[in-house]
Amino acid sequence: MTVTALPSLDTPIAFIGGGNMASALIGGLLRQGLPAAQLEVVEPFEPARAALAQAFGVTAQAAPSPALARARLVLWAVKPQTFAAAAREVRTHAAPGALHLSVAAGITTDSIAHWLGSERIVRAMPNTPALVGRGMTGLYARPQVDAAARALVEQVLEPTGQLLWLQDEAQLDAVTALSGSGPAYVFLFLEAMARAGTEMGLTEAQARQLALATFQGASELAARSGDAPALLRQRVTSPGGTTHAAISHMQQHQVPEQFIAAMHAAQARAQAMAAEFGKDHEAIP
Ligand SMILES: NC(=O)c1ccc[n+]([C@@H]2O[C@H](COP(=O)([O-])OP(=O)(O)OC[C@H]3O[C@@H](n4cnc5c(N)ncnc54)[C@H](OP(=O)(O)O)[C@@H]3O)[C@@H](O)[C@H]2O)c1
Repeated sequence: MTVTALPSLDTPIAFIGGGNMASALIGGLLRQGLPAAQLEVVEPFEPARAALAQAFGVTAQAAPSPALARARLVLWAVKPQTFAAAAREVRTHAAPGALHLSVAAGITTDSIAHWLGSERIVRAMPNTPALVGRGMTGLYARPQVDAAARALVEQVLEPTGQLLWLQDEAQLDAVTALSGSGPAYVFLFLEAMARAGTEMGLTEAQARQLALATFQGASELAARSGDAPALLRQRVTSPGGTTHAAISHMQQHQVPEQFIAAMHAAQARAQAMAAEFGKDHEAIP
């Protein structure tokens, strides 16, 4: 999506967690002109702090401090299993009116609201192509999050790729199964196509180039075409031809059905993770 007419970004932002996802977002913010002095990063792991300093000139802190209180936006980029403990440490330092944006998989806004004592929460499900500015992020905001806060979230995430707001938080489990885990499905297909290519006499480099370019080209064609993927597929599948031989083999072996079942398994796992990592929901007074 295109974000227009936003003010220049000069808002104090705190990151809780300074790993992969935080680095992708911090890089995007600095490229948008956010002064590094406006960033506060809490990252307990020393090598990760050193990596942030080297990549971005950002000084991260090992533990939360009162300096967090100046952040208008607190961005949560910790692993789901450490969220509750991190929230316990941060809660006393964050400003009561701060907006909280979480990218942690499977942590519901109910859990976050309970842990932080705040209703100003947006939950995001990004994917790894965010690291190269071609990500797809699903977003859900609690009803108490106003339009200005949503616009700030869009501005922060826009450099990572496309954004999609959802009305229902449960849809984030479907987003997780589709675009969140989706890059791994594409990598699996790339692996299989490249392996088949080498089995048929191509070098590894040739097979990799052919597989990658095919994914990129077919995705671009599908994105630009007004026609459904099924129609695009039928157009290149002449009866008795080579593509027909491959697609018929996949259909006979129920590849589409198995693929859909696999995505349902990912959705079920996202739902189970929410129950598992949110379980100390009642543990904080
Ligand atoms: N990477 C992706 O593409 C992707 C996609 C969708 C969603 N997500 C979600 O984004 C979140 C972050 O993922 P990631 O790939 O960025 O993970 P990551 O690279 O492991 O980063 C998480 C960082 O948070 C730090 N941390 C742990 N406890 C902390 C605490 N109490 N206070 C502050 N920082 C703490 C970790 O330090 P230690 O190493 O010391 O534990 C680690 O450096 C996860 O919930 C993940 O599910 C990631």
